[in-house]
Amino acid sequence: MRQYIIAANWKMNKTLEEGQKLASEIINIVSDEVKSDAQVVICAPFIHLTAVKALIGSKKNIFLGAQNVSNKESGAYTGEVSAAQLKSVGVDFVIIGHSERREYFNESNEMLAEKVDLAIKHGIRPIFCCGESLAQREQGVHIDFIKSQLTESLFHLSEQDFLKTVIAYEPIWAIGTGVTATIEDIENVHNAIKERISKPLLYGGSVKVENVREICQIPNVDGALIGTASWKKEDFIKILENTKDL
Ligand code: 13P
Repeated sequence: MRQYIIAANWKMNKTLEEGQKLASEIINIVSDEVKSDAQVVICAPFIHLTAVKALIGSKKNIFLGAQNVSNKESGAYTGEVSAAQLKSVGVDFVIIGHSERREYFNESNEMLAEKVDLAIKHGIRPIFCCGESLAQREQGVHIDFIKSQLTESLFHLSEQDFLKTVIAYEPIWAIGTGVTATIEDIENVHNAIKERISKPLLYGGSVKVENVREICQIPNVDGALIGTASWKKEDFIKILENTKDL
């Protein structure tokens, strides 16, 4: 059986109370009823991390993820959160290079490489996001663009560190739009990435209850990074049910 990852990206949603409720429902159902085969990663906003960690406790197949990390080790960087700080609250994974951060916070490939280095240094596995805009896809430059994102932010890593990285292909035009890439689109990009990299490779972008199984059955897809459909307990639980016994 393939080992795959189902990661929830809560983005900037949920008050502390709402987050605790959602996390505890997911964690309880996963351990008591669904018994998911996946490694489930809950990528919560910073304010939730300690509470979600306590709810996860010692459960084996549920992990804690953050959605961002500073590219600085420590010091006078008001508002930033360091990899060491994330580690100190038990974070296992961190999303790095999400297109929303690249676009709204001007995160460059170079800065993302620094974030990747610090995460790995502190024992946190990066979930490194890559993906093209609609214009790039229409121009047919998307594969080259994705390869440059990976090359500039990850290819300096040693083989050993590289093994700790998870990659997520998230075409920007499919994020939060309800438009999922076709199976063929996903297959083409995943095959191109896997030609060079044998890492766990997730797909993200309008993954839903109805399409998650088909997407995860694509040979070079090792799981999914899920936004909108992870914010509702019912949907996320169904996603875990639909990805059993792949
Ligand atoms: P949606 O699932 O809402 O399209 O978001 C995908 C995403 O950005 C996950 O990181």
